[in-house]
Amino acid sequence: MLFNKITPEHVACFTQVLGEKYVLADQENLDRCASDETEDLHYLPEVVLQPGTTTEVSAIMRYCYEQQLPVTPRGAGTGLSGGALPVLGGVVLDMKRFNKILNVDKRNFQVTTEPGVITQVLQEHLKAEGLFYPPDPASKGSCFIGGNVSENSGGPRAVKYGVVKDYVLNLEMVLANGDVIWTGANVLKNATGYNLTQLIVGSEGTLGVLTKVVLRLIPAVKYDLLMLVPFRSAVEACKAVNAIFLAGYTPSALEFMERDALEWSMRYVQSTGIHLPDNIAAHLLIEVDGNHMDELYRDAEAISQIVQQYDVDEVLFADSSEQKQMLWTLRRKVGEAVKSNSIYKEEDTVVPRAELPELLQIIKALGDEYGFKSVCYGHAGDGNLHVNIVKGDMSDEDWKNKLPLGIRKLFKEVVRMGGTISGEHGIGLVQKEYMDIAFDHVQMGLMRQIKQVFDPKGILNPGKILTS
Ligand code: LAC
Ligand code: ZN
Repeated sequence: MLFNKITPEHVACFTQVLGEKYVLADQENLDRCASDETEDLHYLPEVVLQPGTTTEVSAIMRYCYEQQLPVTPRGAGTGLSGGALPVLGGVVLDMKRFNKILNVDKRNFQVTTEPGVITQVLQEHLKAEGLFYPPDPASKGSCFIGGNVSENSGGPRAVKYGVVKDYVLNLEMVLANGDVIWTGANVLKNATGYNLTQLIVGSEGTLGVLTKVVLRLIPAVKYDLLMLVPFRSAVEACKAVNAIFLAGYTPSALEFMERDALEWSMRYVQSTGIHLPDNIAAHLLIEVDGNHMDELYRDAEAISQIVQQYDVDEVLFADSSEQKQMLWTLRRKVGEAVKSNSIYKEEDTVVPRAELPELLQIIKALGDEYGFKSVCYGHAGDGNLHVNIVKGDMSDEDWKNKLPLGIRKLFKEVVRMGGTISGEHGIGLVQKEYMDIAFDHVQMGLMRQIKQVFDPKGILNPGKILTS
């Protein structure tokens, strides 16, 4: 696909639509939009546009479509697969001005929001009304709802409450050619034609630009209990996960952290709150929630009995909101802690939950075979393990050439187990070379045709998901 470079004429036209203030080409803004949280990647856009209305987005898209200019939509830039990186330069559509919660429909348990609202801000706003929007990615304090929809994000609570796709009812979006559509209807059931809404969820800004999001909500939950369970063997910790479900319990979070994950996070946030004996290899962080405290105590007690069979040390029950906060901070900061430690690559493997112990063993065996160290953590209750591969003292040559072979082998094993190559971080830029492991040429052909239908000139977020 041939794209045009941005010229002063283009800039003049953007300025006509948005006003000078929202057409940015200074180094600081170009740099800001050149990166997200994916590794240390950096791709400069030529111009950053900050539209504030659907009409403005539509006018910009119509013009970029005519002029054959690449457009990369951007949320908060917290993505982990490079979805927001303008790999071919061109326009970054910075959606930060779309930051209004438009309508809380309490009668119908729905909210209509603009996509640039921070996830936690939305959650807290709704909580004050007795409403609950559960998906809570680790970056919830800074990520945007629009990015969450675009990546179909998950987070710890997905194990009980589901991921973003389970809450999206309807989307307003601007197509590549500037047309504006709603994808569905604001209803809880919908069997009317093809499901455009769910096609757009997780499409990473390659099919359209989101301008409004309608989410389903549930009643706020009153109480939760949190416990941290130390295991002497990481594989045993993974085995304990399935035992909890088989015994009939569905925790509201069931997170796994290898020793290094927790230890590095403790160092990163300078926490001394947890005693970590030498023989502890991994932890499960387990939360139960509900509206009846007595039931929660019973469930927590039963779960702690179940895990006793898997070589555990003393279970820590968080006994104050500060301690809960501290444990969740440690868990949420693992990714950042690893990043601060070394150059790394983050894989987002997911397998059917019962296969988790095998997945962990395979990761470690491949690490030995290909010479990489991994720090694993993530949403064990979903079978979703984040595999952080740290460069450490691996040579540049091996990092560049040998490691991708190891990752390829890992993903093949994951698919063999019935899993897939991304659970919640998306494909974006950095995983697209592995898509052939998850899909054959027939499936890839269908995806290419879908892209072609929505974006015949290929201007929207080019270079993502599909290899050229
Ligand atoms: C987490 C992010 C990296 O689970 O998905 O911490
Ligand atoms: Zn995660």
